[in-house]
Amino acid sequence: MITTKNLQQLAETHGTPLFVIDHDELRSNYATFKKYLPRVQAYCAIKANPDPAIVKTLFDVEASFDVSSIQEFNVVYENIKTMPEQERHEWIRDKIIYANTIKATETLAKLDKYKPLLTFDNREEIIKIRQFAPNARLVLRLLVSNAGAMVELSSKFGAEPSEAVDLILEAEKQGLTVEGLSFHVGSQTSNFENYVQAINIAALIFKEAKERGYDKMNLLDIGGGFPAPYDASVKPFSELAAVINTELERLFPPEIKIIAEPGRFIVATAGTAVSKIIGKTVRHGKLCYYIDDGVYHTFSGVIFDHCEYHFDSFKKGSTQICTVFGPTCDGLDVISKTEELPSNLERDDILYSRNIGAYSGATSTHFNGFPPAKVVHVNRYLLRHTALHPDYCVA
Ligand SMILES: Cc1ncc(COP(=O)(O)O)c(C=O)c1O
Repeated sequence: MITTKNLQQLAETHGTPLFVIDHDELRSNYATFKKYLPRVQAYCAIKANPDPAIVKTLFDVEASFDVSSIQEFNVVYENIKTMPEQERHEWIRDKIIYANTIKATETLAKLDKYKPLLTFDNREEIIKIRQFAPNARLVLRLLVSNAGAMVELSSKFGAEPSEAVDLILEAEKQGLTVEGLSFHVGSQTSNFENYVQAINIAALIFKEAKERGYDKMNLLDIGGGFPAPYDASVKPFSELAAVINTELERLFPPEIKIIAEPGRFIVATAGTAVSKIIGKTVRHGKLCYYIDDGVYHTFSGVIFDHCEYHFDSFKKGSTQICTVFGPTCDGLDVISKTEELPSNLERDDILYSRNIGAYSGATSTHFNGFPPAKVVHVNRYLLRHTALHPDYCVA
């Protein structure tokens, strides 16, 4: 973990706002995922944080990738562009899933030559894929319960389990092959029962497909949703993994390939925002701090990710509940109305917020002319094993 002292040094060296990425933590989260779900091939969902340096670190530890746009595909592609063509195509076939059920025709046309693995969840998409990516291999995404997740996805994606086999047979009729099923139980899921139910539903659909003469499915994609340890209420990953392993063992024989699309779990704890107080006042009797980063920038997860972030300060003192505002002129730019911070903080004092690596800087804007925070990559492994690299810094 990057220590408070390290953060202080980084703020002195680089100024603020800063978005510090700890690459040792990325490697450690990926290793934890693999350790507790050894049967599962982890396709890291780069939407959670598509920074090319993060993708490179995950590529170096032989991760696979979930992409959901041609731009994300290209970020991953950068790492393999010098591979010989056949090897590169094989790598893409094995290590990328395009897991956005709705795809632009241009995207399909660009991906087709790789025989890509794509998700879909409706008839219209089958027609589109047949026309623009006839060589694609398909994964049908199912609608499953997202109850208890911080971010629900079920209103937008997923075929009803009752229509699943009809869609699989329709795709087959159109000359396409459905290789398996996927689902997403909702992001930051605290309800482990969602995984149990979804795996059971998938097993029933495998069975129904076989009974109706379709025997080409060999893959189950258990999606994302794995919770990051934002606070003490989040149960350990090992507990969730044990539940998942039991169901997979019971319902899916070893020849069925199991994959997942973890996003938040891999990157959330690797990111820390470091910000500076630029203003202080009392409004309606409540202490308010204004800082140089906000919801249009690194803290965008407050709006888009339904996430609450907490602050610590280097300076200590007796605390009170305050509001923390971002720097823009918009009244929406409120990071927290219930933050417990020392009341003696002043202009230029530094605040930091840990566990902000997922769905945060990824949605930064230039609203009001304020640029996104400077990203600093702390990569101790790289520094230990190579000559000093200008993109990385010592903390
Ligand atoms: C299709 C898909 N896969 C994976 C993810 C990553 O989910 P998480 O960050 O909850 O692991 C998402 C998130 O929205 C998604 O939509």
